[in-house]
Order: sequence, then C-alpha cells, then structure tokens
Amino acid sequence: MKSDFEIRVIGTGSALPVKVWSNAELIAARGLESSDEWIRERTGIAQRYIVGEGETTFTLARDAVAKAMASAGVGPEHIGVLIVATCTPDLSFPSVAALVHGDLKLAHNCVVLDVNAACSGFVHALAVARGLLLAGTAEYAVVVGAETFSNLVDWNDRATCVLFGDGAGAVVLKKDTRTQGHKAQGVLSIDMGADGTCAPQLMSSGGVARGRVAGTVLMNGREVYKHAVRQMGSKVEAGKLLDEAGLTVADVNWVVPHQANLRIIEAAAQGLGISMDKFVVTVDQHANTSAATIPLALDVAVRDGRIQAGDVVMLQAFGAGFAWSGAVIRW
Ligand SMILES: CC(C)(COP(=O)(O)OP(=O)(O)OC[C@H]1O[C@@H](n2cnc3c(N)ncnc32)[C@H](O)[C@@H]1OP(=O)(O)O)[C@@H](O)C(=O)NCCC(=O)NCCS
Repeated sequence: MKSDFEIRVIGTGSALPVKVWSNAELIAARGLESSDEWIRERTGIAQRYIVGEGETTFTLARDAVAKAMASAGVGPEHIGVLIVATCTPDLSFPSVAALVHGDLKLAHNCVVLDVNAACSGFVHALAVARGLLLAGTAEYAVVVGAETFSNLVDWNDRATCVLFGDGAGAVVLKKDTRTQGHKAQGVLSIDMGADGTCAPQLMSSGGVARGRVAGTVLMNGREVYKHAVRQMGSKVEAGKLLDEAGLTVADVNWVVPHQANLRIIEAAAQGLGISMDKFVVTVDQHANTSAATIPLALDVAVRDGRIQAGDVVMLQAFGAGFAWSGAVIRW
C-alpha cells in the first residue's frame, strides 16, 4: 500500500496475570496424566500465567494499553482508534475495547472494536488499525492482543490444556507524513488469508447459538501442526510480504512468530532459511496466549533491547480459521 503517510510503532506494553504455573504445578493441581518432560519435549513450554480473582481479558488488555501509552508518551485523549484482538472476550458484547475505553477514559471520538481472528488476530487488528489511520483523521491508534484461554480450555483434555496461557500485549501506532529521501518507517507490508474449510480442526465447542455458553477448545493437534508449519515456513509467502516491503530475507533482523509451539517455530525457521537466533521466542515462558503472543513477544524484545530503532521485524501469525497473517515493520 503506497501512501504519503507512514504508520510507525512508537510504544509497546504488556500485562500478565499475577500467578505463574510451572508444568509440574499445573499437572499436580489439575490431576493430569502428563509430565514436565512430555510438555517441554513436544511444545517447548515450561510455564504459563493464568488469571485469578479479579483478572480478566479486559483487565489484562487495559493494563497492557496503559503501559504502551506510557512507553509512547501519549495520553488517552489522543488515541483515535483502539482495537483489541481477542476470541476470549469478557462478554458477548460490548467489546473488550469498549470496556478499556471506559476505564482509561479515552477520547469521545475514539473508534473501539474487537477483532476475532483467533491466534492470528493481532496482525489482523494491526491491518485494520493501519487502514483506519490512513483513511481518517486520527493520529494515534492502539492495537492490543488479549486472551484468557484458561477460561476456554477443557481442563480434562491433557492434549490441549497444557498448551495455553493468559496475557495481553499492546502497541501504539502513530501516523506521520512520509519523509522523502528517507527509508520508509513503520508498517511496510501486511498479508492475510484463510482456509475456512479447516475451521473444524480448531474451534470452540460452544457459543451464542450453542447453548449460550462459551464452550471449550476442540483441536486436531496434528492437522494444526502440519498447516502451521506449512504456512509459517513458506518461503513463497514470506517472499511476497518482504517483496511488498522492498526487502529480502537477508534484511530481516527479527522474526516475531505466533508462539504456539517451539517445534513449529523451529520448523518455520528451517523452511524460511532464517537462523533461530533471529527468532524471538517466548513460548517457553508464556505458552500459547493466542492473539496476545506476538505483542507480548514484541514488548519483551523491545524492553530487553533486542529490537532497536531501524530494525526490520517480520511478524508471522497462524491460528483457528485457519486464518494466517504476516507483517513487516521497520522499527
Ligand atoms: C498437541 C501436540 C503438542 C501433540 O504432539 P504430538 O507429537 O502430535 O502428539 P500426539 O497428539 O501424536 O500424541 C502422542 C501421545 O501423547 C499423548 N498426550 C497428549 N497430550 C499429552 C500430555 N499433555 N501429556 C502426556 N501425553 C500426552 C497422546 O494421548 C498420545 O498418546 P497415545 O500415543 O497413547 O495415543 C502437537 O500436535 C501440536 O503442537 N499441535 C499444534 C497445536 C497448536 O499449536 N495449536 C494452537 C495453534 S494456534
């Protein structure tokens, strides 16, 4: 998308529940027939954070947004767009974004909405926010990924319940006039798609039309694994994304992939021919927090100094739907 404007990331923030659960603690507390060794070997996950009393998708989103605004140095009155990517909202409606808007007292003319593209949601929300900024008069947007999958997993299904965790991450975007003669900054390209025929492979068993309860996670792990590796490890897809940004694989400083499983990330790295040293990995610490994995990992890598101004960062997401998305950002 060519424009006289560029959409830069100017701040990040994240929030995790207070309580962290190691594999061993979770197995003991839930009475699972599993082991720390099995979970680490098959997924790379060592621990996850799980919400307790008073913590919800909304509170995590709100805290991540507040931290991102503080790191950007932008007050709530300036935010013109707030999008929360989530498939575990507190309520069927209003949106989590509306709850955050009310609590943080954002501007009267701020657009608020939730995006549900499951684990792919953050990059989808980034695309929507970029489009709204480019089409309208708002100068600042906040994009959030926030989830509490602990409220959706079946705690009797050991093949899924050990994989997920709760958390939220947020970025603040700013629309700037593009400076001629300088390298383009900010979001350089975004690509998205889906294979809806695979929807039954990873879904919730419930919803408004199914008994009016949220349901639990149903997953065909092997199918999900196969498709995730094929999509995230595709040189052709990554090539299209980088080409649109006017870059090549050699220009990429960091890849921030969806954090579902370390083996998926390693297979994607191999497929793309990019060294694992360039991948930001947090799945060991956070497990799969669905739409929150990418902004959480971004915040970690920005705060620990890995991602620096000018770096080329490639985001890669894949999840239920099967919906997939990717983005290239010059930080
Ligand atoms: C779920 C996943 C880790 C399972 O790994 P796998 O190597 O495919 O393992 P399988 O499903 O073949 O199961 C192997 C055995 O381990 C068992 N098992 C499953 N979960 C277990 C657990 N938590 N602890 C111990 N054993 C477990 C299975 O019951 C099976 O036993 P069996 O051989 O007696 O039937 C893997 O398929 C995966 O990561 N898929 C992608 C999931 C994902 O990322 N989803 C979100 C995407 S956004």
